[in-house]
Amino acid sequence: MGESEEKARKEGFKITDLPGIGQVIASKLEAAGITELMNIAVLSPAELSDTAGVSEAVARKAIQASRKMLNLDFEDASEYMKKRAELLTITTGCKNLDILLGGKGIETKAITEVYGAYGSGKTQLAHTLAVNVQLPDEEGGADGKAVYIDSEGTFRPERIKQIAEARGMNPEKVMKNIFVARAFNSDHQILLFDKITEMIKKGEPIKLVIIDSLTAHFRAEFAGRGMLADRQQKLNRHLHEIIRMAEQYNVAVYVTNQVMADPSVMFGDPTRAIGGHILAHASTLRLYMRRGKQNSRVVKVIDSPNLPESENIFYITAAGIKDEPDKE
Ligand code: GTP
Ligand code: MG
Repeated sequence: MGESEEKARKEGFKITDLPGIGQVIASKLEAAGITELMNIAVLSPAELSDTAGVSEAVARKAIQASRKMLNLDFEDASEYMKKRAELLTITTGCKNLDILLGGKGIETKAITEVYGAYGSGKTQLAHTLAVNVQLPDEEGGADGKAVYIDSEGTFRPERIKQIAEARGMNPEKVMKNIFVARAFNSDHQILLFDKITEMIKKGEPIKLVIIDSLTAHFRAEFAGRGMLADRQQKLNRHLHEIIRMAEQYNVAVYVTNQVMADPSVMFGDPTRAIGGHILAHASTLRLYMRRGKQNSRVVKVIDSPNLPESENIFYITAAGIKDEPDKE
């Protein structure tokens, strides 16, 4: 949870505390899924006016007030730095990979997307992160629980147990701290995702959300060429909900994505991620994984805002993702 929201919550601000928003309008907003100050703060006056049935002037005042309560206006750089300091990181358990991710692993308030062919290690990294998020801060974790939305049926509790044991953690406890659900179609996936906010509000210290894979159901359900626009629109909405949740509750999100052959690439690796540009823009960090020599995996940072494009190597081992391979 961000400091500002924490403050708003502590001080007990509700949307009915906003000027011009009474109980009747609040119920109308609630029906549209707008239940919190942050939901209002990110709307435009026109959007709020439409949804709430108030004038744009009233809407503008309410939005401004919500932003004030949440401290969302301009701030000086030191304030900004303080906010950055709220970010938590989760180690991948592998130095090479952590370095690529900026030094300490994946960050909260961001979506980290990994795409790559089958067997490249996307799911193995997901399992490793679900364990590592539970580590204390000194050991590279976020002292939190994980949610694992499994759309491909490849979650393996035995694997969690194995990784936890290799790290000297209590495997039963580690498994209890991972909430798993199989998503059977894209609507179900979205529904499961929406439940996470409720769990956090009930006090579950969820610091990592995994969606493995984010795109498989969307790809299967919107298969024809003419359906691409519909698919992108639905995926886009899903992604906005994801990034909003991540920012609002200071949660790290790890999603996986498949690749497809790109016939327009003549040289080099002819694969590109499913989901195209929309997904590229919503992901705060994108990694591309592939098999390397001698059973290694090669991972590359793709268009990061603040990291150089570079490559590194890791291995999938009994203990999870590591810098060195298992000894034969
Ligand atoms: P798709 O979901 O099919 O697209 O692939 P993915 O990228 O998710 O691949 P995944 O992470 O499932 O990697 C599978 C690979 O992990 C297998 O080829 C195995 O080589 C390796 N692997 C899985 N479990 C273990 C293990 O316990 N020990 C070791 N050393 N390797 C493992
Ligand atoms: Mg997988």
